[in-house]
Amino acid sequence: MKYALFPLWLLQLLTQAKSFKSNRIIGNLWLNKLGLHVVRIILSHSIMHLRMRMLSRGVTPEQRQHFFKHGYLVLDNVLPAIEFEAIKREVAEVNAEVRECIQGDTLTHRIVLDEGTSESLSQCHSMLRDKTILNIHKFGSGKNNVPVSYIQTIKNHFVDGPSDPQKNLHSDTFHPTMKSWYFLDNVDDDNGPFNYVPGSHRLSLSRLKWEYKKSIAICNDGDRYSSNGSFRITPEDLVEMGFDGPIALKVPGNTLVMANTHGFHRRGDARLRSMRTELWSISRSNPFNPFPGIDLPIMTKLQNKALSLHRQHCDRKAAKTGGHSSWHIVESRNTLEDSEYSGSKSSTSSEAA
Ligand SMILES: [Fe+2]
Repeated sequence: MKYALFPLWLLQLLTQAKSFKSNRIIGNLWLNKLGLHVVRIILSHSIMHLRMRMLSRGVTPEQRQHFFKHGYLVLDNVLPAIEFEAIKREVAEVNAEVRECIQGDTLTHRIVLDEGTSESLSQCHSMLRDKTILNIHKFGSGKNNVPVSYIQTIKNHFVDGPSDPQKNLHSDTFHPTMKSWYFLDNVDDDNGPFNYVPGSHRLSLSRLKWEYKKSIAICNDGDRYSSNGSFRITPEDLVEMGFDGPIALKVPGNTLVMANTHGFHRRGDARLRSMRTELWSISRSNPFNPFPGIDLPIMTKLQNKALSLHRQHCDRKAAKTGGHSSWHIVESRNTLEDSEYSGSKSSTSSEAA
């Protein structure tokens, strides 16, 4: 029965499919010994680099060089103070569907920024559609379309549980992929700054050697997240590759951080039971497709519709077994003032930032 999926697994080799567990070709020991994983990396990186170059005219030469060299960008004082305050007010007051995910002792809330919230969250939408921001996102993702965006609140130490798995250094996937955070709060050691290893997105010989070894090790026995294609890295391996370690991007509110999350990164440790809120964007596309696409509103609508259907499908599937999906709807956004979190029981997701 399992080999009936062979044609699908074969086709998935030329997509963003990354799981060593659910695709028996991607997770095949002998094919990885022959270099399958490494070949996918080299090919996808070459194509994505070309796509980013094609979309690089919308950013400054300094931004382009910095992103290609270090794997991340930081933009200070993105909006005039009055507009920044208006966004914060809008986010604080909005009444919209909230989805929640629990990972370790961290609770994450998201409100999707799609057509359904274009009026109630108009300030957020217009910030993300600003030409400068849009061009930076398109360049970073190598995709000529808007990313998927959310209002995201990270709530550190809000539930009882083990440590948050997103706080381990990792690479999201085998190919370049873009995430960005437009912070509405100041970010520091209290509420956990984004950590990134500068330059770790580049394909050095030592990185390829590590990827090769890791792909073989996972076929034998890998941790859950690495087996799903989001490779975890130890501090020792990082040193062996010649990196000093991650830097913590402690930035004030009204700062945009964009990163190529093929590079090693993690959610930084938070000293306190604390929160941070941001406009969070993500863009992933087939890294083997050499065309960056056409920016048409219908493409954005289709993208949002597909995501909405996927979320509903996950809800229905989980409901059949009496549970709830990894990203399930909650009735309200809990605040720091809540003495005890009283939401749904813990769930897990390998797909978070
Ligand atoms: Fe990540």
